[in-house]
Amino acid sequence: MASVLIQANAKINLDFKILGKRPDGFHQIESTFQSIDLSDFLLFEKSKKTQITGGIVCPEFQNIIFKAKGVLEKDLKKKLPCKIHLQKSIPIASGLGGGSADAAATLFGLNLLYNLKLSKKDLAKIGVKIGADVPFFFYGGTCKVEGIGEKVTLIKQKLPKFFLIFRPHKRLETKKMYELYDKTGKNFLALVREICPEIEKLEKYFSKFGLKPKLSGSGPTMFCGVGNYELAKKVSENYPNFNGDIFICRPQKEGMKILTIK
Ligand SMILES: Nc1ncnc2c1ncn2[C@@H]1O[C@H](COP(=O)(O)OP(=O)(O)O)[C@@H](O)[C@H]1O
Ligand SMILES: [Mg+2]
Repeated sequence: MASVLIQANAKINLDFKILGKRPDGFHQIESTFQSIDLSDFLLFEKSKKTQITGGIVCPEFQNIIFKAKGVLEKDLKKKLPCKIHLQKSIPIASGLGGGSADAAATLFGLNLLYNLKLSKKDLAKIGVKIGADVPFFFYGGTCKVEGIGEKVTLIKQKLPKFFLIFRPHKRLETKKMYELYDKTGKNFLALVREICPEIEKLEKYFSKFGLKPKLSGSGPTMFCGVGNYELAKKVSENYPNFNGDIFICRPQKEGMKILTIK
């Protein structure tokens, strides 16, 4: 292939529990992950020189896309030079899994670009070395995720038509949130309430509509399932002075999609 365009979907956590910590420091979790139609787009093109353009998330060498490519090259003992253009829409460090979605899309895109013939299972095994929640994105839809993130099981669950998503403008890195959890024993919601006063305001506001928002992952994004668009619109339009982003999303059946392949 000469070029591949991938849509990488964000996730929310319909539920989330930390079960414990392994001797190697990784946390064991039990969670239901759900793909949503809030997406980054990644274009991969064969090229002699490797270059990442587009959304500047952080210095190039710190971008998880770069890390994913490096891990794959090391695993295969093969260079995979290419240009990668990232169109970033998933808010960063917000509990929506944007970095992991990009990492998974990179492995998936390079697999196609270089005809590496790796299966979903192979990709998931490589993915977990980049980030514990990366394997989910190769499956997508609604999945039970266990272990440190490597055990992914597709499940059937009745889903609301829409998810109303409020993301306060505060970046919370997952790594730091786990460190705080280890230090205090407080769950992510309790911690995020302390760090981000907007959360309690949001919870009160949602309750006026009979809605109970949940935290996605390590936060600070809060979301709620809503059955009809009118209600989602009403709730999203009437919150006074929200310092953040509001999305109305639909559940998706895939973690990523091939848009074009040439
Ligand atoms: N392509 C990327 N997209 C998003 N974040 C990235 C990317 N590459 C590196 N990062 C870094 O990863 C961190 C965010 O990841 P994480 O803490 O797991 O949050 P989340 O999964 O909610 O996006 C930030 O420090 C960010 O700079
Ligand atoms: Mg993450």
